[in-house]
Amino acid sequence: KRNDKYAQITEEHVKFFKGVLGAESAVIDNITGEASEDVEAYNADWMRKFRGHTKVVLKPGSTEEVSKILGYCNENKLAVVPQGGNTGLVGGSVPVFDEIVINLQRMKEIRSFDDVSGILVADAGVILEVADNYLAERNHIFPLDLGAKGSCQIGGNVATNAGGLRLLRYGSLHGNVLGIEAVLPDGTIVDDLSTLRKNNTGYDLKQLFIGSEGTIGIITKISILCPRRSPAVNVAYFGLESFEKAQEAFKEAKSQLSEILSAFEMMDGRTQNIVHNIKSTSKPLEGDYPFYCLVETSGSNSEHDNEKLQSFLEYVMENEIVADGVLAQDQTQVADLWTWREGITECLGHWGAVYKYDLSIPISSMYDLVNDTRARLEEAGLVGDDDSKPVVDVVGYGHMGDANLHLNVPCRRFDKEVEKLIEPFVYEWVQKKKGSISAEHGLGITKKPYIGYSRSETMVKLMQQIKNLYDPNGIMNPYKYI
Ligand code: FAD
Ligand code: MLT
Ligand code: ZN
Repeated sequence: KRNDKYAQITEEHVKFFKGVLGAESAVIDNITGEASEDVEAYNADWMRKFRGHTKVVLKPGSTEEVSKILGYCNENKLAVVPQGGNTGLVGGSVPVFDEIVINLQRMKEIRSFDDVSGILVADAGVILEVADNYLAERNHIFPLDLGAKGSCQIGGNVATNAGGLRLLRYGSLHGNVLGIEAVLPDGTIVDDLSTLRKNNTGYDLKQLFIGSEGTIGIITKISILCPRRSPAVNVAYFGLESFEKAQEAFKEAKSQLSEILSAFEMMDGRTQNIVHNIKSTSKPLEGDYPFYCLVETSGSNSEHDNEKLQSFLEYVMENEIVADGVLAQDQTQVADLWTWREGITECLGHWGAVYKYDLSIPISSMYDLVNDTRARLEEAGLVGDDDSKPVVDVVGYGHMGDANLHLNVPCRRFDKEVEKLIEPFVYEWVQKKKGSISAEHGLGITKKPYIGYSRSETMVKLMQQIKNLYDPNGIMNPYKYI
């Protein structure tokens, strides 16, 4: 239910916004009848699972503009939703009712880059891939990479504390982000855009914004430590007979590839069949295996790295850890092998509905959950090829190196019976293993009711106190998170 404490947006409010955001098409609205663009694109999330009813989208062009509009919204009790590239997977980036969307896409300047320290300072609205391409020209790399890189924004990445494909190597944004500039709901600009690696002067307040999902303020700029780009990137893709073998392969990869290991991803055979069928591309390996892994190395010496990866592959094949494997021969093949991992998310959406779970589970029991969930749904007769069955398949993939499983249930439609069988079953299962119900996607609206499975009452209460301190009127991304 819409909370009546929030004001309804009027023509007068829109007039104010138009006055502040001078630029053409910086205000899109369904109120004055002068819309330059359809607001609906901003109401729907990436999965087409959630649809809000905003009548106004604001696209500020500077931190000062963000400050003016937020301060005004706060005074007038107008609820807002910060929005980046709108690729989030938990429904956090779109309104639930008529909250105003504040989209950061016009704030997209790279402010500075220091090639000695590797520190990049940029606006929140810079697209991740644009930032990474900019860095590539300067022999550096953005310390985060994910399948949505062509659309997601670095501010959105920080707001969700995205993990992605190389966390194993470069660590989390909590370590890499050195500074943040943000605007609080009352319009206060928090200038913590430090470029220092070390700064132990009191509480590290910027950490609160990392993973805050738009609930305490709007991130407008970030400074981030970027590693040197490795001149030698290699990828191997292999098939395995069991999840136990995948664990052995991971252990060997850490021991034999050690400092050059940059990703270790797991995909079950079902996901690979789905990608194969949807994309109609020929598989990297001839046989069919229940599990596949993608291993990437990034180092400074191509020949040396190649040799290491080659001898790792020989070792795991000779010792029957891996059933079959292939090594990319050039950068085109590297990119091609990555599509078998990065393409999964999109392909799973093919049937129109997916139940997505993003979980941290101790690695040894990571895949058991996929089997248990599949067994439950099969027993109930809900899984099958024919259209009368709601569930297409039950699959698992993820960042094995980080013990992060993506359990996905692609469906022909969202179905209450299916939902009842998997929730809270999945969350209870994860809680028993002392895992996390959200490893990297955040809580948004989908996971909000389940925070108690991973956080104690005391911790939720502390979060609530922080929220109230930063956002006493509760205008920031309401109905979500906390
Ligand atoms: P949005 O979706 O627009 O917003 C996400 C949340 O952040 C919302 O709550 C929003 O209110 C808030 N927000 C956005 N910008 C700001 C800002 N400037 N200030 C304050 N709050 C803000 N995630 C992973 O962790 N790892 C992955 O490997 C991964 N792969 C993905 C692959 C695909 C194909 C897709 C579609 C998504 C994937 N994601 C992954 C989800 C991930 O959360 C997003 O892709 C990304 O981090 C969100 O960035 P965005 O700019 O799209 O933010
Ligand atoms: C991934 O690892 O592919 C992303 O987190 C997206 C997803 O979970 O599908
Ligand atoms: Zn992921």
